[in-house]
Amino acid sequence: MRAEEAEAAAEAAAVEAAVAAVAAAEAQEAAAAEAAAAAAAAAAASAAATVAALAAAAAPPAAVPLDELIAATDGFAEARKVGEGGFGRVYRCDALPSLPRVACGFAVKTALVGVGAQGLAELQSEVRTLSAACHPSLLPLLGACLAPARACLVYPLCRGGSLEDRLYRAPAALQRLRMLGFETPPPPLSSAARLRVLRDAASALHYLHTLSPMVLHRDVSAGNILLDERGNGYLADVGLARAAEATAGGSQQVSHLSTQRIFGKPGYMDPIISLDNQASQLTDGFALGITLLVALTGRGAV
Ligand SMILES: Nc1ncnc2c1ncn2[C@@H]1O[C@H](COP(=O)(O)OP(=O)(O)OP(=O)(O)O)[C@@H](O)[C@H]1O
Ligand SMILES: [Mg+2]
Repeated sequence: MRAEEAEAAAEAAAVEAAVAAVAAAEAQEAAAAEAAAAAAAAAAASAAATVAALAAAAAPPAAVPLDELIAATDGFAEARKVGEGGFGRVYRCDALPSLPRVACGFAVKTALVGVGAQGLAELQSEVRTLSAACHPSLLPLLGACLAPARACLVYPLCRGGSLEDRLYRAPAALQRLRMLGFETPPPPLSSAARLRVLRDAASALHYLHTLSPMVLHRDVSAGNILLDERGNGYLADVGLARAAEATAGGSQQVSHLSTQRIFGKPGYMDPIISLDNQASQLTDGFALGITLLVALTGRGAV
């Protein structure tokens, strides 16, 4: 009897050990599967972190609270300022809690002055337009803060700088490129590199013009074509000239600057605009033509 009991106990112990071994194997398998899933997610996240992947992703822009933007840019600190244009200033930051992490970093474009009702409506309309647009060479809008006190737009940071800066390499341009991570000034762009960037920008402009309803850029220039770290080109600031004009409000200086800019920068403006004051795909095309000339000859727009 005792022998039988001992045998039964041994059997039970063996079964228990087998069950434990199976459980351990299962746990090991689950841990391995979890690690594989985490690695796959990390790989997907890092793939989505390039400007090219963000442009292809077609994610709608997120609402980003102003507090978050102030914190991420150290209160719009001078040390984080990349540059300044018709709409306002551009600051770089690495992360924003409201947006997925990206490897390239973020460019936060903030209006110079408080936005009036008209400016806000114009910006909202631009945000809507860009939310519906997606092209591999169109710089995507990742987030927006439509606070009347300080309207901000968030884009991927293009670490290759603007085509204009890469062409002219003036001291201010080299300083901006340093801000974007070039420890030493990048070499001049080869003609193949220029053609590639121009092809990318032209295909994005063509895409905008074939949307229904058609979207006009209104400010095509070498300064509004940005490069990523791999030399891909992106058309930036679609429709922003009009928003800048509406946003300018009572500020005399900005207002003067931006009324000129509503149809593009001097030198890029189709003379036909002086006849009928009307932007069209032809005036965008004229500005693209000047951009091609500027990029291929290295001479400035006059
Ligand atoms: N997403 C970005 N990534 C990197 N640099 C940027 C980005 N957006 C703008 N910049 C740089 O910041 C500076 C200011 O840009 P901004 O667009 O305000 O002015 P602009 O392009 O010179 O003129 P415009 O008012 O016609 O757009 C420019 O030197 C531009 O190259
Ligand atoms: Mg610009």
